[in-house]
Amino acid sequence: MFTSSDGFTQDTCLLGKHHRAIIPHGVVLLGLWYITGRFDGGKTTFRRKYPMKIIEIEWCSPEYQSALELRHDVLRGPLGLKLTAEELDGEHAQLHFAVMDKDEVVATLVARPESSGVVQFRQMAVRPDQQRSGKGTELLKHCEEKIREKGFSEIHLNARQTCLPFYEKLGYQPIGDEFEEVTLKHQKMVKKLS
Ligand SMILES: CC(C)(COP(=O)(O)OP(=O)(O)OC[C@H]1O[C@@H](n2cnc3c(N)ncnc32)[C@H](O)[C@@H]1OP(=O)(O)O)[C@@H](O)C(=O)NCCC(=O)NCCS
Repeated sequence: MFTSSDGFTQDTCLLGKHHRAIIPHGVVLLGLWYITGRFDGGKTTFRRKYPMKIIEIEWCSPEYQSALELRHDVLRGPLGLKLTAEELDGEHAQLHFAVMDKDEVVATLVARPESSGVVQFRQMAVRPDQQRSGKGTELLKHCEEKIREKGFSEIHLNARQTCLPFYEKLGYQPIGDEFEEVTLKHQKMVKKLS
């Protein structure tokens, strides 16, 4: 066995190399685990543990155009419909929010101010490949905070029946009877900001 002048044997040198290889890999794996997810009940979900980029976008800006495309692709296209002039009317006076992934809009929400501290959230859409990864939740919470800062105290929205669990989880309560809109059953929901 080779023994160096400072007492290292060939074995300890090999062990040292081995550790030098393991430690960086371990750090990388730990980082990946932290950033990308958790394993729950046999279903892997990928949730970012770092802040998403959520911005307020200007009406008619390039980001607004991208958000319109997303709204069409997620909310109208699958129903064989288009966004109508009536739906777009007045959007210059509404607030537009977007979750950005690099330069792409991957989720969006519109807030329409109404009288006496009330705002309507509408047109919430998350890109299909990014749904169920926490983006909708983060976007909704962010928008709640922003409109609270602007002095609103109550939010209402018309939720698709299929999405009730999503809104209920975030503190929205159903009010009134269900109704039909864009061919789908909807439910009005309300949340008071404390
Ligand atoms: C509904 C929507 C906005 C939710 O955003 P999201 O980023 O996918 O939702 P999140 O990942 O934040 O979901 C959080 C929780 O809400 C619930 N949830 C979300 N989407 C749901 C759905 N479609 N049905 C039932 N529960 C849902 C789940 O409990 C989910 O937790 P889980 O993934 O651990 O089970 C998004 O899926 C979407 O754009 N859907 C298509 C368009 C649409 O229906 N828009 C709403 C119109 S009212």
